[in-house]
Amino acid sequence: MKKCLLFFFIQFIVLNIYCQEIRDAKISIDLNQESEKISPLVYGQFIEFLGRCIDGGIYDENSTLSNEQGFRKDVLRSVQELKTPLLRFPGGTVVKIYHWKDGIGKKTDRPKRKNLIWGGIMDNHFGTAEFVQYCREIGAEPFLVVNMSTDSPNDASDWVEYCNGTGDTYWSNLRRSHGYIEPFNVKYWGIGNEEYAKPDAGKDQNVNKYIEDSWQIIKLMKLQDPGIKITLVGNCDDLAWSREVVSQMHQVCDFLSVHFYSMPGDSKYTTLLQSVEQFNIRLDSMKAIINKVPSKVKDFPFFYRFPPRSEPLKIAIDEWGIWDIKSGKGTGTYNLEYPYNWSHALAVGKFLNLFQRNADIIGLATWAQTVNVLAPIISTEAGSFRQTVYTPLQAYRQYSQKNNLPIVVNSPEIENKLKIIDATASISDDKKEIVIAVLNLSENKHVKTTINFINLKNIRKFKLENQIIYSAPSLDATNTFKKDIVKETQIKSEINSKKEFELTFQPASINFLIFKMSDE
Ligand code: AHR
Repeated sequence: MKKCLLFFFIQFIVLNIYCQEIRDAKISIDLNQESEKISPLVYGQFIEFLGRCIDGGIYDENSTLSNEQGFRKDVLRSVQELKTPLLRFPGGTVVKIYHWKDGIGKKTDRPKRKNLIWGGIMDNHFGTAEFVQYCREIGAEPFLVVNMSTDSPNDASDWVEYCNGTGDTYWSNLRRSHGYIEPFNVKYWGIGNEEYAKPDAGKDQNVNKYIEDSWQIIKLMKLQDPGIKITLVGNCDDLAWSREVVSQMHQVCDFLSVHFYSMPGDSKYTTLLQSVEQFNIRLDSMKAIINKVPSKVKDFPFFYRFPPRSEPLKIAIDEWGIWDIKSGKGTGTYNLEYPYNWSHALAVGKFLNLFQRNADIIGLATWAQTVNVLAPIISTEAGSFRQTVYTPLQAYRQYSQKNNLPIVVNSPEIENKLKIIDATASISDDKKEIVIAVLNLSENKHVKTTINFINLKNIRKFKLENQIIYSAPSLDATNTFKKDIVKETQIKSEINSKKEFELTFQPASINFLIFKMSDE
């Protein structure tokens, strides 16, 4: 009997230490601080001719689950509900061998080509018009990336004319003859992809060559449509490359591309979080580079015949996500189909907090990729389901407000520099709603957190109206066709006029706190 009591007592103590321990954190928000617009384009997505992302993912002409355009209806619904504002296409590395002219006109006449980069065959039935149509269906702006390796500068210019031309000229007329009378109005264009990558099939791995070729391509494209916005290839692992591109091309560079893949070196949760944390350093380096550039371009020679960049140069994180090779769980082409678990969803939240905090320098971001490959949505011939990472991707888009609000977070650490509480705040244009996104990244500790608002001066009514909590049974839990492990809890709260709130966040949770205020 004594032994039994002792056993229960020890168990009680252990449980208290590991599961119930409550730690303290403090969040302060000063409403006098300047807020910064969060670009809506920061919540974009990316698709590429890689494995089953496009063919067999979003597009499958032979499936009974597809509509008459060949779009998988179940997948389309999930992509629509992601509410992405921007979709990048056709790659990625594949851009270096992709010829856009293969993907226009009657589908049966389109050439089939070997996908020299990722393997398999591209029948080109999903081409420019289908991509634009898909963007319309999901409510996203199209973002096209040109092939500067095996297509010519003239091809890039023709693509702009085919998409945006309004005159009585060859490529505009060809588009019309394909059934698209109105121009596609594609505003966002990338010049190449990771052109510095030595093993790739590109030809401009020397930065000066990249600059020389890009200048010519951009001139020809902008002469077709001066309103397009240009993304150029930067590199956060080679700052000299980025510096050179910015200093020689800032007049025509709207966005400088960097790719942020978390590639944890082992399968530990903290390694995953640290791999996201280190992007703070990369962003700071990129910030130092782009902040040297004048926000307005002066003295741009008239004889370019198109206007220069008109807004401050921003960073485009046009591929980001989690490439968890060390999990050993990937399948499909290049093992890029991962079962993302709840720890990955928390890491996505950490990425998005980072993006919101750096709203002043990030102009757009597109998660790589969308279906099957490194993806929030998995499809088979029989159906599809949403992975854990779908939850934060969707929720941040749904709940965040349009402007970021500086926030000070005092939190205990999981380990070196890794805060347990990772939070950001955003505020609506009319200043009537504040949203705080709070991640409790501890695996097993509740965190009691004081949230303190400073300078609420004329606000008479202030309330925490709604709390949305996402959690899961364990860090390694994954969604499958049969079950969705993500639990969503909504707590409506009573009106009150407090300026200080005390809340306890459960372990491994993503939380959105919606505050409403008015001066009536
Ligand atoms: O997203 C997969 C690949 O990762 C892309 O093709 C390439 O740009 C990046 O290295």
